[in-house]
Amino acid sequence: MLTSKLPHVGTTIFTRMSQLAAETGALNLSQGFPDFDGPQALRDAVGRHIAAGHNQYAAMTGLPALREQVAAKIARCYGRSVSADTEVTITPGATQAIFCAIQALIHPGDEVIVFDPSYDSYEPSVELAGGRCVHVPLALPDFAIDWQRLQDALSPCTRLIILNSPHNPSGALIARAELDRLAALIRERDIYLISDEVYEHLVFDGVAHASVLAHEELYQRAFVVSSFGKTYHVTGWKTGYVVAPPALTAELRKVHQYVSFCGVTPLQWALAEFMSEHPEHVEELPAFYQSKRDLFCDLLANSRFRFRRTSGTYFQLVDYSAIRPDLDDVAMAEWLTREHGVAAIPVSVFYRQPPAELRLVRFCFAKREDTLRQAAEKLCAV
Ligand SMILES: Cc1ncc(COP(=O)(O)O)c(C=O)c1O
Repeated sequence: MLTSKLPHVGTTIFTRMSQLAAETGALNLSQGFPDFDGPQALRDAVGRHIAAGHNQYAAMTGLPALREQVAAKIARCYGRSVSADTEVTITPGATQAIFCAIQALIHPGDEVIVFDPSYDSYEPSVELAGGRCVHVPLALPDFAIDWQRLQDALSPCTRLIILNSPHNPSGALIARAELDRLAALIRERDIYLISDEVYEHLVFDGVAHASVLAHEELYQRAFVVSSFGKTYHVTGWKTGYVVAPPALTAELRKVHQYVSFCGVTPLQWALAEFMSEHPEHVEELPAFYQSKRDLFCDLLANSRFRFRRTSGTYFQLVDYSAIRPDLDDVAMAEWLTREHGVAAIPVSVFYRQPPAELRLVRFCFAKREDTLRQAAEKLCAV
């Protein structure tokens, strides 16, 4: 009998809810992907690069032109000059970048701090490296870092802290002052960071994203991860990148070259070309998604759901305790899907130990206007 290395892992809720939405014909506001396509020019570029013969292995570290574009964007957005050669690595998705960073850092017995609720790939990646996750719940209702709990969770075995801002599922942002506080907390310790910033350009209401790339002290011990899938509305391309100081990048690349070796070649050519021709795309993203958030929230104002507009990401949490307080959030998400035709994700699945009183589900508003209008109409009838 095979002994599972991940005995607690089953089919994820994202797959289950998307399947249920397909079976029942419900509008799928569960899994986090757009129901519209990425820019036409970007999609056309892929076809052109395939026709032009860009179909063999790319450089292990990523196509140089794409690494240059990433470095230029980082200089523009965060004022940091990084080396495209020694600090930027293109990966098949942010998830793979996170996996490789964890394998590079974590030895058996090491502890990794994750803030709950957290993205589901972190813990299995830590377990496969022989490490152990220490779960620190974010403070409700704002999903803010609870500094006392974080400090209490640190031990001589703590090797890594995983940050995620803008935060999935809550949309909460880590402020610059919190990065300063974190820097002070770990200054004397041998602790690294993974900063999952895949939603870096989805920050609303005129607020600036506080990237670890813009924090001199924290960057020196960080892997900063992003995803072209999120930024260019092409999640199925599974193409991302990781930025880290040269010594950390060198260790990460040792793992990456044996996990996948390189990312998909024509996609990298197309992204490099599009980024150089359309630098405005990332500047327009906050307004693009903010108007979707506002449309969805304005329409939901007439519903019995309670919510505060999300600060970032393309997720909106809603509290349903005025509607079905008797249902836990998994049952609520299924009930909404089956009985009301809108699929959502329960927030408890992002926790090791969810708070008993949690009555929140997550909707993804990366959807066309007519999808959002139809969904809101159904939700207002609940
Ligand atoms: C917080 C977070 N990190 C990473 C990812 C994965 O990104 P990619 O599709 O590029 O692997 C996601 C996707 O949903 C996410 O929400």
